[in-house]
Amino acid sequence: MKSPEHVRRVISALRKEGPDKLQVVSDFDMTLSRFGFNGRRCPTSHNILDNSQVISEEGRKKLKDLLHYYYPIEIDPNRTMEEKRPLMVEWWTRAHGLLLQQKILKRDIAKIVEESEVMLRDGVNTFFDQLHQHNIPLFIFSAGVGDILEEVLRQAKVFHPNVNVMSNYMDFDDKGVLRQFKEPLIHTYNKNGSVLEKTDHFQQLSSRTNIILLGDSMGDLSMADGVANVENILTIGFLNDKVDEQRGKYRDAYDVVLEKDETLDVVNGILCYIL
Ligand code: TMP
Ligand code: MG
Repeated sequence: MKSPEHVRRVISALRKEGPDKLQVVSDFDMTLSRFGFNGRRCPTSHNILDNSQVISEEGRKKLKDLLHYYYPIEIDPNRTMEEKRPLMVEWWTRAHGLLLQQKILKRDIAKIVEESEVMLRDGVNTFFDQLHQHNIPLFIFSAGVGDILEEVLRQAKVFHPNVNVMSNYMDFDDKGVLRQFKEPLIHTYNKNGSVLEKTDHFQQLSSRTNIILLGDSMGDLSMADGVANVENILTIGFLNDKVDEQRGKYRDAYDVVLEKDETLDVVNGILCYIL
């Protein structure tokens, strides 16, 4: 923490004002899902599709090449978000273009997720269950693939009615074959007012002016931009990769930074204290 005093003050305010004023906004990939396990990377929602049997070998190779080219740009601490933005649009557009060339069927999604190596962070059940029990809305704002991440949550039995998702959704034709991705395209660095205009989610929650925001990217910090009249916000950032290079930036930007922590224990501890 850059300022433990600030964190203490915000947590006290969240506790004092109680669950009726609170909402949680979270990223999905590498925030609610694990970054690594036993020294191996865990898949993002895109990777779940990319690595599945339904993708041809050639398609898989091309998607992997894109990942190896663009991911280092995504997390490069020496480039600004403005510089990265057009390159992220390029990545997402090319990746989605490749996925459209494959025969992806709606009815295969459950199996694709079942057979994947996706893992959610330790403590994820406690996290979702606490929010559900206290009727606290959880808004998952993801640049991943909505259909896939919803299925991950469903299979983990945590997709409770208090959870809403904004993400890239697939559009299937009447035979259930993927034909395009729905607009707007969400990438790592446009998770802000520019795409939030397309939803009235936050307008419906106008009395919930206290926020806990969870993310793993610098682009996740603007995810709660659609909330009018924020009174107290606690931002918690998972620093998964290039820890030494990114530490300074993350500490300046997030109230709490968790380095290489594959659990939701800190978040659960805070929730347990304030609820
Ligand atoms: P998010 O966690 O901010 O929602 O972003 C989604 C992640 O998905 C981001 O870190 C990059 C990753 N990604 C892939 O792994 N494969 C892809 O093809 C694309 C477009 C993104
Ligand atoms: Mg993420």
